[in-house]
Amino acid sequence: MKEFWEERYSEEDFAYGIEPNVFLASCKEHIPKNCKALAIADGEGRNGVWLAEQGCEVTSVDYSQAGVAKSEALAKERNVSVNALCADLTTWSWPEEEFDIVVSIFAHFPPGVREQIHNNIMKTLKPGGKLIMEAYHPRQLEYKTGGPPAAEMMYSVDTLRDDFQTGKILMLEDLDADVSEGKYHFGQGAVTRLILQKQMK
Ligand SMILES: C[S@@+](CC[C@H](N)C(=O)[O-])C[C@H]1O[C@@H](n2cnc3c(N)ncnc32)[C@H](O)[C@@H]1O
Repeated sequence: MKEFWEERYSEEDFAYGIEPNVFLASCKEHIPKNCKALAIADGEGRNGVWLAEQGCEVTSVDYSQAGVAKSEALAKERNVSVNALCADLTTWSWPEEEFDIVVSIFAHFPPGVREQIHNNIMKTLKPGGKLIMEAYHPRQLEYKTGGPPAAEMMYSVDTLRDDFQTGKILMLEDLDADVSEGKYHFGQGAVTRLILQKQMK
């Protein structure tokens, strides 16, 4: 899969555009000023750069070198600073209780890996910190407008409720939405959205 992403991001255009994900951009009220934010599987950096523009201190992680290079270029062009790391999230040393916000946008992992990543998200959030997530719902297979080719890589409300049992769910829903982001997310689709808060100690 890593080679797949290297190839996709080696194109000159930004695969998912340079604007932030629409759901993330609608969540400003959940993003405190001067907070520490982690954008996982951040691709070419559109979401990490937007978080930096909101005043966050941003760590952006993706295992595609080409993606990370484009994140750095986008941050420079927008005159913001992003700590863009090229790392595999399955082996990365997730810092404990480090981030106020974790953003996971179309970060799809297979069963087994998915639970591991989601546990690590909870570990890396500070108590009271929030996760903002949007992912394709398995119904997306009917739309064929982007996303992974297999239902097991997509997340339903039940899947996310199971994965995040220890957090406080502030919002969890699936819906049909227009997802028009660059060349590879191209129109009406089915998504699941989650806003979750890690319990205070
Ligand atoms: C659909 S793209 C989404 C990119 C970005 N979040 C966005 O919305 O523009 C999925 C991303 O997951 C990254 N990815 C997949 N598995 C990964 C892993 N194990 N570690 C780090 N990144 C990974 C890919 O490189 C790719 O950039």
